[in-house]
Amino acid sequence: MRDTMIGVIGGSGLYEIDGLENAEWTRVETPWGEPSDAVLTGILDGVKMAFLPRHGRGHRLSPTTVPYRANIDALKRIGVTDVISVSACGSFREEMAPGDFVIVDQFIDRTFAREKSFFGTGCVAHISVALPTCPRLSAACLTAAKDQGITVHDGGTYLAMEGPQFSTLAESKMYRESWGADVIGMTNMPEAKLAREAELCYASVAMITDYDSWHPDHGEVDVTQIIQTLMGNATKARGLVARLPVLLGAQRDDCEHGCDKALEYAILTAPD
Ligand code: ADE
Repeated sequence: MRDTMIGVIGGSGLYEIDGLENAEWTRVETPWGEPSDAVLTGILDGVKMAFLPRHGRGHRLSPTTVPYRANIDALKRIGVTDVISVSACGSFREEMAPGDFVIVDQFIDRTFAREKSFFGTGCVAHISVALPTCPRLSAACLTAAKDQGITVHDGGTYLAMEGPQFSTLAESKMYRESWGADVIGMTNMPEAKLAREAELCYASVAMITDYDSWHPDHGEVDVTQIIQTLMGNATKARGLVARLPVLLGAQRDDCEHGCDKALEYAILTAPD
């Protein structure tokens, strides 16, 4: 058994978490550069917590410029065992409405302007991301959302786009009709892949703000509409995060799904 430390990466609208004992913002140095911001650490219901605002306080970083490697490495260095990603997304499904949450379990990675791996120069590794999220952590997020009365969908495919512009109508229809994506966002990749390379359990809570542009009754995506829904979503997300310590507990076993052993057979480079 070892101590649990829950690391929450907050997306648009979520820039801190409430109720932490011994709350402290700490700057963490990494070989991958500076993380998006300092990390807020503290204790909630007896469980160690860490919080990192993905876009920085004041929302200074676009999805392309978020330092994903530094963020995941900073969380790993301070002892995080379980990463909960909270982010805004658009929906491709009528029944997944703005204000609902989705516990994502698959990704289609269409990002192209980001560093995607800790490996490549000097040390080559190929990890599996066939099942990119941790089922135990995702189940806790699902329960936490239900406990808070949030309308939540168990599982969904998240299309990660580069942005910063939203999709064209043709892209939106293709992702939905041909590719089978359920939601779309700009930040969960390469974050989820890097968390697996860092052997951290990762779950993604995607908060729907809009119907992207495919929906005949909802027109184009616009940021004013998104921001209104986003504020309500952020309040719900705070409630969800507050439930997690009790559900996950202060101590944890090895991950039964092997997230914490992802590198065991992955490294090809011979040791020096
Ligand atoms: N984030 C929130 N809504 C989105 C959308 N429709 N497309 C991409 N990212 C989003």
